[in-house]
Amino acid sequence: MTAADPVIEIEDAYTAYEGADRPTLQGITLSIRRGEFVVVGGPNGAGKTTLLETINGMLPITHGRVCVCGYNVKGDGVPVRCRVGYLLQNFSFDPLTPFTVGEVVMMGRYGKIGLFRKPGPEDREAVFRSLTLLGISDLVDRPIGQLSGGQQQKVLLAQNLARNPEILLLDEPFSNLDIFSREAINRLLSRLAGEGVTVVLVSHAFDDLPDRPVRVVVMMDGRIVLDRESAPGSVAAVIRGASGIHA
Ligand SMILES: Nc1ncnc2c1ncn2[C@@H]1O[C@H](COP(=O)(O)OP(=O)(O)O)[C@@H](O)[C@H]1O
Ligand SMILES: [Mg+2]
Repeated sequence: MTAADPVIEIEDAYTAYEGADRPTLQGITLSIRRGEFVVVGGPNGAGKTTLLETINGMLPITHGRVCVCGYNVKGDGVPVRCRVGYLLQNFSFDPLTPFTVGEVVMMGRYGKIGLFRKPGPEDREAVFRSLTLLGISDLVDRPIGQLSGGQQQKVLLAQNLARNPEILLLDEPFSNLDIFSREAINRLLSRLAGEGVTVVLVSHAFDDLPDRPVRVVVMMDGRIVLDRESAPGSVAAVIRGASGIHA
């Protein structure tokens, strides 16, 4: 696969939540190439999370087509999810969750390890590398439930990186993070995109996006209302302008 090939191809897709009277996504068409850095903005309820769930093959597609890494997500959900890392919005662990940080990050390897093999040196190396990339290797033996929201978010990002994903879907990853962590993670995401990982980031933290041009996609009412390359400093204005938010 070359850099010019689309890794995410969405054609006139409608996706509906179970029991909803109308599809949430209303005819989305979007083609994303390998190594692109896409920032998805738009008001609450616009369909940003639904778009990520659609790309990850988690929702019924009632019309249209969604292909990820050459697989149709409709029939091939498993190979798609093997290649996609997905950081959920506002996920937090119960304080009594019986796993350490190291164990949670190792879970990111299970798709590669398979059910009947024990983690080997390669898996431990991937876990260590991911923790180091996020600057949290000192937390490896801590129980996950006892960490702050921001620390848990970093652990989940490390878990996703441990899988060496081709695509990273990040749903408001900065919401619990301090300014230093945001900057560090922005640098990390830019680097990963430079290495060919495709990054699709839903964020409201427009002011501290990576220091590189990004593709801005703005959604409203389940539709894409704007899709264009933008310099980092102007992303906030582009998103505000397109979604009619005057903050
Ligand atoms: N599980 C669900 N069941 C039914 N409707 C949902 C569900 N999750 C979200 N929605 C609806 O889909 C729309 C888009 O939601 P969402 O994608 O979460 O928006 P955003 O992430 O842009 O804030 C909203 O109208 C919301 O009420
Ligand atoms: Mg959302």
